[in-house]
Amino acid sequence: MKAMLVVLAAAGALVAGLGYAQSGADVVKAKGCLNCHEVDKKKVGPAYKDVAAKYKDDKGAAGKLVAKLKEGKTHPPVTASDAELKAAVGYVLSTK
Ligand code: HEC
Repeated sequence: MKAMLVVLAAAGALVAGLGYAQSGADVVKAKGCLNCHEVDKKKVGPAYKDVAAKYKDDKGAAGKLVAKLKEGKTHPPVTASDAELKAAVGYVLSTK
């Protein structure tokens, strides 16, 4: 049983090291999104709750927002991988 846990922990560390399976909440912290955003207050950028409310009826919102963040034209440029942006946007849209 103990050996099993060690194996699982090692696998988890490996996956985290590769940048996969990071939760959106971790990404917004690690990538500095929270320097400009808060979940329930407007800061430099809109509150994530307001973003979630704005897009609640838009089924394509996640894809659009990932594209917008990657483009870095209307939104300030961010440095995060596609997988990280997907996780972050999923998190933002879940904050409503
Ligand atoms: C330098 C400040 C800054 C940083 C860093 C930043 N944002 Fe923003 N964000 C803004 C501003 C300003 C807006 C409002 C303008 C806009 O919608 O593009 C915004 C808007 C957004 C929106 C709503 C876009 C829309 O169409 O309504 C989302 C989602 C978002 N940011 C996610 C993120 C994520 C995820 C990160 C981190 C990877 C991040 N932001 C980092 C400033 C920032």
